[in-house]
Amino acid sequence: MSDTPWRFLLEKSLNYHRNIREARYLQLATVTQENRPANRSVVFRGFYGDKDCLKFVVDNRSEKVRQIAVHPWAEACWYFTQTREQFRFSGLLNLVQADNADLALKQARQASWQELSNSARLQFAWADPGKPRAEDADFAPPPPPVLEPLANFCLLLLEPMEVDYLNLMGNPQNRYIYSRNDGWSSIEVNP
Ligand SMILES: Cc1cc2nc3c(=O)[nH]c(=O)nc-3n(C[C@H](O)[C@H](O)[C@H](O)COP(=O)(O)O)c2cc1C
Repeated sequence: MSDTPWRFLLEKSLNYHRNIREARYLQLATVTQENRPANRSVVFRGFYGDKDCLKFVVDNRSEKVRQIAVHPWAEACWYFTQTREQFRFSGLLNLVQADNADLALKQARQASWQELSNSARLQFAWADPGKPRAEDADFAPPPPPVLEPLANFCLLLLEPMEVDYLNLMGNPQNRYIYSRNDGWSSIEVNP
């Protein structure tokens, strides 16, 4: 069990929403090559490592991957409807591709691939995301291998450096900022 202060809150929210599939969707904002914001929904795939990284899976042909290569900073925003809590994670993205030299990361990528549903895995064999609409046949590929990820499949890790937690339940509402330097520190701020 991690002793990171915000993680306890997040695990509690995840547990409370465990039967709500949409509770694992959050928004991940990156910075484009033109220094503009770019935002999209992604699925939370769990935690990785002792830095409490958030795991996502992405296609290395997608636009966000080109953005991350230039600007690794990102912000994720996650709202839990039943407990009325918002978490904002500001941090660095680490893209784990097929050729990653770190064995643990390589294995984590492979495990994330194996944990996907068949239909989610199949999407990585579809035609290039963001390109003009392809023929129907390009969306009916043979099922990819279950054990070995396709080359374009990536694990994406968000390493939080700051977490802004807002709980709307109170009146006034409660807000804490968690910051990572040597370890984590927190400060209660006005909502
Ligand atoms: C509910 C929902 C969940 C999604 N989950 C993911 C995901 O886990 N990974 C991903 O790359 N795209 C996911 N997408 C698609 C992205 O939001 C986005 O459309 C796509 O990745 C292309 O983004 P980009 O052009 O900024 O790279 C999801 C979309 C929705 C609506």
